This record gives sequence, structure tokens and C-alpha cells, in this order.
Amino acid sequence: MNTEVFFLDENNIDLDIIDRAAEIIRNNGTVVFPTETVYGLGANALSGEAVKKIFAAKGRPSDNPLIAHVSSMNMLLYLIGSPLGAGTGLLIDKYWPGPLTLIFKKSGKVPDEVTAGMDTIAVRMPDNRIALELIERAGLPIAAPSANISGKPSPTTPEHVIADMMGKVDMILCGSKCSVGVESTILDMTEDVPIVLRPGGLTLEELENVLGTVRVSGGQVGDKEVPRAPGMKYTHYAPDADMIIVKGELDKIIKKIQELAAEYSARGMKVGVLASDETAGCYKDCRVLSLGSRSDVSIIASNIFEKLREFDKIGVDIIFAEAYEESHMGIAVMNRMKKAAGFNIIEV
Ligand code: TXA
Ligand code: MG
Repeated sequence: MNTEVFFLDENNIDLDIIDRAAEIIRNNGTVVFPTETVYGLGANALSGEAVKKIFAAKGRPSDNPLIAHVSSMNMLLYLIGSPLGAGTGLLIDKYWPGPLTLIFKKSGKVPDEVTAGMDTIAVRMPDNRIALELIERAGLPIAAPSANISGKPSPTTPEHVIADMMGKVDMILCGSKCSVGVESTILDMTEDVPIVLRPGGLTLEELENVLGTVRVSGGQVGDKEVPRAPGMKYTHYAPDADMIIVKGELDKIIKKIQELAAEYSARGMKVGVLASDETAGCYKDCRVLSLGSRSDVSIIASNIFEKLREFDKIGVDIIFAEAYEESHMGIAVMNRMKKAAGFNIIEV
């Protein structure tokens, strides 16, 4: 398939290009576009035929439902089968557009292919002007999963989407690096007390500020629970190399990784360490990548997928990753890291 690629400036968008992309969406083609979380692989959310192309391009199992991206309240109301509750209205006022996906009972307008046969629909309004213009000009909701090949780290830069999606979609719209860098938080609004199904770019604390209480699927976020979001059961974010997380107090983490790195290097393996600005200088004779400063875990989040992909490019045999505290954005960071590591964790 011939893929057209365009580079856009979010602050000065070439609307002729957006119109071409919108036309592709209306004609049931596929367009990759930037959002504030990760790049999305979009198609007309009202067409089963269009949405099937998303599953084909990603190699995604068809029992994994998609998020519909909207640019207006009218689009949301068209997709859902019941009126908005009071809490939902408050959340939308405060956090849309933004990294929050809400799950509702679906209306009869949503094809089964989008929701994988479920009677609920996931909806979000992305906080990116290119994405919002595209949805608005297409005039319909756009179904979009992360624009990576299934199982690989989600794409957060133009380089990532070009690597994964060239030749598989009709158009790629490149913006800048995604500012949030992990996917949206998914909140199921169909229960009396809303449940977080996936931790993400909006923190638990931010949800609790509006709702008072929220529950978290499976008890502890990030644990190996039976997932209620179907997609959470699949292997995710996996770099080519095996990955082991080292968890505990920071000085003990550093010491353990130093030991492990020496041991694996002595066996002739090419070792990678996923470190932070504060610790990167502590490791010798291995490839060290820093996720940024530990003083701001949202920066760590914005770099996690990029650094996992960088290790693939370098071609290491094993990655040792420093853990982060599981609070605020650290919950989403650790959730993605644990999946990337296949829940391989050493506690020190
Ligand atoms: O930030 C994001 O959410 C990005 C950008 C592109 O918007 N999208 C994204 O989509 O992460 P995807 O397909 O990679 O992840 C969507 C997750 C999957 O785990 C899926 O199972 C879950 O949402 N999901 C979708 N619809 C659902 C539903 N009706 N009930 C429960 N889980 C649902
Ligand atoms: Mg995904």
C-alpha cells in the first residue's frame, strides 16, 4: 500500500493536508495521527469495514475493542446509549480534551467491530490540535488504537510510526513527540463507583479530586490481575531483549544492577540499563539510557516508550530497569514497565 507522509506543525497547521486526511477517513481509509498520549491509527468509527483495516494494519486480535476519538459533546452523545451522569459531566468539564478515556453503554450507531461485540464503548477527546482538526473536518468519530504493531512499545514520535506503519496505512500525519507519552487512563463509568481499567496519563489523584472515590480494576494497579479491559491481557510494549525490573530503595537498586550488569557482561551478553539522570553515571561497561530526572515522573513517563524502542535499535541482549515509586504518574510508568518486562521483577 502506498502511504503518504506529512509533517505538520501543531501551532500552524496546514489545513489542506488535514482536509485530505479527513477525506481518507470519510472514504473508510486509515490515517495515523498524533495525540498528546501516543500516536493513534485512525479510521471511521461508524464503519465496520473501515475499522477492520485498523486490526489488519496492527496485527491486532479482533476481540480487543477500540477507543472512539471525538471532538465535540455531540459526537459523544451520538455514540452512547444513555444520558450522562453528573460525575461524568464534571470529569469531562475538567479533563477533556485530555488523557482520559471513559466507558459508557453504547448506542445502536456503533458497529460491533469497534467494540469487539461488547455492549460498551470507550470514548475520549484527545488534547492535540492536529487530532481535533482531523476529527472535526472528517465530521465523525475516529476509532484509533495506538499506532504500533501489536505487542510493541506504543509510538510517541514520527520516527516510531513511520517504522511501524509505512506501507500499512493510507496516510501518516507527523506532529511532534507526544507530550504525555503513555496512553490515556481508562475509566469505566457504567458501574455505580467508576473503575479504573488502565492507569494512564491522568492520575488517580486527579480522578479522585472530582469523583471522591474510584476503584481500581483487580485491586492493585499494575499487578497481574484478570483484566476487564480486554486489551490488557495481551503481551504489551515488549522490547526485543528480555527485561528485568529492579525494585527497592534507590541505592540498593543501583548496587544490584551494577552486580547484574557485571555478571551478564562477563557471560558475553550486551547489557542495557534503563536509568535516570541521577543514576546514569553509576553504571559501567553497558549501554545506559536515562528516562530523565527522578524529580519529575511525568518526564519519565514521556520517555518510557521511546527508550524501550531505542534499546531495540542498539540491539542489547538484556535490559535492567530501575523501578519508580507507584504513585501519581509512577503508577502508569510502572504498569507499562511491568508489562514490557513480562512481570520479571527482582526486589532488593
Ligand atoms: O491514549 C490512548 O488511549 C491511545 C490514543 C491513540 O488515544 N489509544 C490507545 O488505544 O491506547 P489502544 O487500543 O492501544 O488501547 C485501548 C484499550 C485496550 O486495552 C482495550 O481493550 C480497551 O482500551 N477498551 C476499549 N474499549 C473498551 C471497552 N468497551 N471496555 C473495556 N475496555 C475497552
Ligand atoms: Mg495499544
